Amino acid sequence: IRYIDDMQLTGKRVFIRVDFNVPLEGRRITDDTRIREALPTIRRALEMGGKVILASHLGRPKGPDPKLSLEPVANRLIELLGPKHEVILADDCVGDGVRKLVKDLKEGQVLMLENLRFHKEEEANDDAFSRELASFADVYINDAFGTAHRAHASTAGMVPHVKEKGAGLLMRKELEYLGGVMKNPAKPFVAILGGSKVSDKIKVIESLLPKVDALLIGGAMAYTFLKAQGIEVGKSRVEEDKLSLATRMLEAAQRLKTSLVLPVDHVCSTEPTDKGPVREVVDRAIPADLMGLDIGPKTRAMYSEHIKSAKTVVWNGPMGMFEIGKYAAGTRTVAESMALNKDAITVVGGGDSAAAVTQMGLANKLSHVSTGGGASLEFLEGRELPGVKALETK
Ligand code: 3PG
Repeated sequence: IRYIDDMQLTGKRVFIRVDFNVPLEGRRITDDTRIREALPTIRRALEMGGKVILASHLGRPKGPDPKLSLEPVANRLIELLGPKHEVILADDCVGDGVRKLVKDLKEGQVLMLENLRFHKEEEANDDAFSRELASFADVYINDAFGTAHRAHASTAGMVPHVKEKGAGLLMRKELEYLGGVMKNPAKPFVAILGGSKVSDKIKVIESLLPKVDALLIGGAMAYTFLKAQGIEVGKSRVEEDKLSLATRMLEAAQRLKTSLVLPVDHVCSTEPTDKGPVREVVDRAIPADLMGLDIGPKTRAMYSEHIKSAKTVVWNGPMGMFEIGKYAAGTRTVAESMALNKDAITVVGGGDSAAAVTQMGLANKLSHVSTGGGASLEFLEGRELPGVKALETK
């Protein structure tokens, strides 16, 4: 893969696929991490004398939808880039109007295309649409790691039709850190997996089990594993149809001599809301009238020890219902223990856990917090990402 800093961009139309799929409340951006993380690449292209064209999707529109316009994103980008560079927002991502804007674009200017998914051809990876996007570009740069698991027109289809292609600086950072974890982790290597469903994480567990020294499980999926071992879990959320799969995972861990570590105590309640009473259960088993909503204090201490003695730590998925403050301690402990371990490479694999780390103000104390949700999961599963594959030069 070539990278943007090895390319000659002066006077060229540089088409940068970014992932500006940011969380919105109405028209307000609630987390601008993905925009800020794309700035180094955008700035680099501008400094190198490029005419920058930015393209992204936002949400999952079924056609043009003003609520999912990239306008708020363009406004935020204007604030972040500062007055030195003009940012123009097109009202579409293809068509004559866009062609004219591209033709008139000058070095040092940024043209941001409107939401790619206003056209169904984007997700369909349509050839004519791909070629039209490609016609706007002399150079194609992919910096959208978060969308690299999608084989869409802007991440895959258009790439062969542009003369030069390469990856941006965010893409490079993501591939270096996540790739390092997968290929060459310093030992001891500890992985922490949480979240509600075993089914979401099963392939990640399978791919990490042979690589890690310990795999710590939290979140609701821990209850499926506990139940698979015959332990009572009360009213906790369990995927009944995944019990035998969980058993197989536990057996695989034993065969591989990898410790698959489950919670030994819990923070519980009668209901999964902030209304229910908080009950600490100092046992692996949970009484019939309670449900587990976070890992307990003994488990927190144990997981923290594992994390602090590791040389590589990768984490994906919260340890409990962290969006409710009284069930956030487990997730907070994992984030803080990672931040305290300065001797380790510490990587957070996107999604909810990345949001938690950002909310807690700990993101800059870790080696890397991925901007990918689904993409980092698929990467950790060991799968090839279409957006990355498209950049590989033969
Ligand atoms: C993401 O947020 O995971 C990416 O932007 C991809 O979005 P999608 O799941 O709608 O394809």
